[in-house]
Amino acid sequence: MATNVNAEALKESPIPDAIEKHAASKQTVDPYNVQGEVGEDGVVKAIDYNKLIEEFGTKKIDQALLDRLERVTGKKPHRFLRRGIVFSHRDLELILDRYEKGEPFYLYTGRGPSSDSVHVGHTIPFEFTKWLQDTFDVPLVIMMTDDEKYLFSDKRTIEEVEGYCSNNAKDIIAVGFDPNKTFIFSDFQYMGGAFYKNVVRLSKHITLNQARAIFGFNDSTNIGRIHFGSIQGASSWASSFPHIFGEDESKTVAIPCLIPCAIDQDPYFRMTRDVSARLKYKNSNISYAKPALIHSRFLDALQGPGTKMSASVDESAIFMRDTPNQIKNKINKYAFSGGKVTVEEHREKGGDTNVDVAFQYLRFFLEDDEELEKIRVAYESGDMLTGDLKAICIKELQTYVAAFQERRAKVDDEAVKLFMTTRPLKWNGNPRAPIVVPQVQNADGEAAAEGGDGKLTKNQLKKLEKQKQIEAKKAQKAKEKEEKDKAAAQP
Ligand code: TRP
Repeated sequence: MATNVNAEALKESPIPDAIEKHAASKQTVDPYNVQGEVGEDGVVKAIDYNKLIEEFGTKKIDQALLDRLERVTGKKPHRFLRRGIVFSHRDLELILDRYEKGEPFYLYTGRGPSSDSVHVGHTIPFEFTKWLQDTFDVPLVIMMTDDEKYLFSDKRTIEEVEGYCSNNAKDIIAVGFDPNKTFIFSDFQYMGGAFYKNVVRLSKHITLNQARAIFGFNDSTNIGRIHFGSIQGASSWASSFPHIFGEDESKTVAIPCLIPCAIDQDPYFRMTRDVSARLKYKNSNISYAKPALIHSRFLDALQGPGTKMSASVDESAIFMRDTPNQIKNKINKYAFSGGKVTVEEHREKGGDTNVDVAFQYLRFFLEDDEELEKIRVAYESGDMLTGDLKAICIKELQTYVAAFQERRAKVDDEAVKLFMTTRPLKWNGNPRAPIVVPQVQNADGEAAAEGGDGKLTKNQLKKLEKQKQIEAKKAQKAKEKEEKDKAAAQP
């Protein structure tokens, strides 16, 4: 069920929510509309993410799950995870189970190429996806929904979205994905064959009533939009990519994906999970794997909580093409401040880091936990003034954007062609688990062309159990050491 879907909102508005005046309304989060609750006073409130977890029926990522992630991967969780920016999931435990056993899974994410203006908010899910790829060492497919951005706009032409598609692919590549493990595809180009069969398979199991309930469509909605969910959903099935996972569908239908996405995309995959649960491979008892999900929250617009950055409004966002000077001016001029009106009052009462945009951006981009905590304490106590906080934020964003621009300058048409070519991929999975990853052989016959749903032999299971025990012992020792160090550090 969508939360308060507004049919009018399906038409894309060029005006950012933060600048518009609002009538009182409930919080709205779906693939076409994101806005915090509006009170009687017309003020937009921050999006309530806990409420979304409840309404969508997802699970909160808690400390126990983070601890397990760290144990299983041997890597400190990404700062987005540590700080509740990636905050919710579906079936992440099952993906960790598979990783532990060396059973195959893949990553799936996407981008709607709606303009050439990529902002820092767009890069959040991709930054996180790169971390997942580096951490799990698994294949990644990235869908470019050029069809969606044509269907969901009154103005855009097909040629226009095609142009955005290849430019956006360059922006995505610039995040730093590994070409050996990443397949980027455009819906217009890749449609057909195994993928199209899955699109149709999915659409056959969704009624108009369901699509309406999930997305809020009405009788005037064009039928392309109504059908689009089956396209976005069909990439959740590994059998859509025979060049990566092999031709044997009795094996590939059982390989799940993990989808890192912003929370507004969840309705597509809730729908896909429902259908997966009902589908069997050729009437056998082999089920279609349900996609697992890991959800991120939005980066607030410069105007403050309750809004998200808009690609069409320059003063709402920091864009990846902005110069250091533009970044500085935008933060200084527009970033909503949680500071007090006068210096005296601020020194006395301190600032509010919950609504302060500069502080929010530091939570997203400043890697060092201790430094962030120091800044929080100093700002909330009134020791640090808004100007100083903004200066730190400006520096971090300038560094982040400059590093991106440097990588982006090196991405050429050849790179796009490589990432977008239908070809086998190469990956290793969990180095500590027995390898049972089915890979399609490449031209040099390098990867094993086995296929397989990753069931382990008794011997492999034994070995794994032993490894797990060693891991647990190691973790225990590390913890003890940490506690000792902590105790020693106490004054
Ligand atoms: N609909 C998404 C957008 O407009 C693009 C997309 C397609 C996507 N598949 C996805 C996003 C999977 C996240 C995960 O940006």
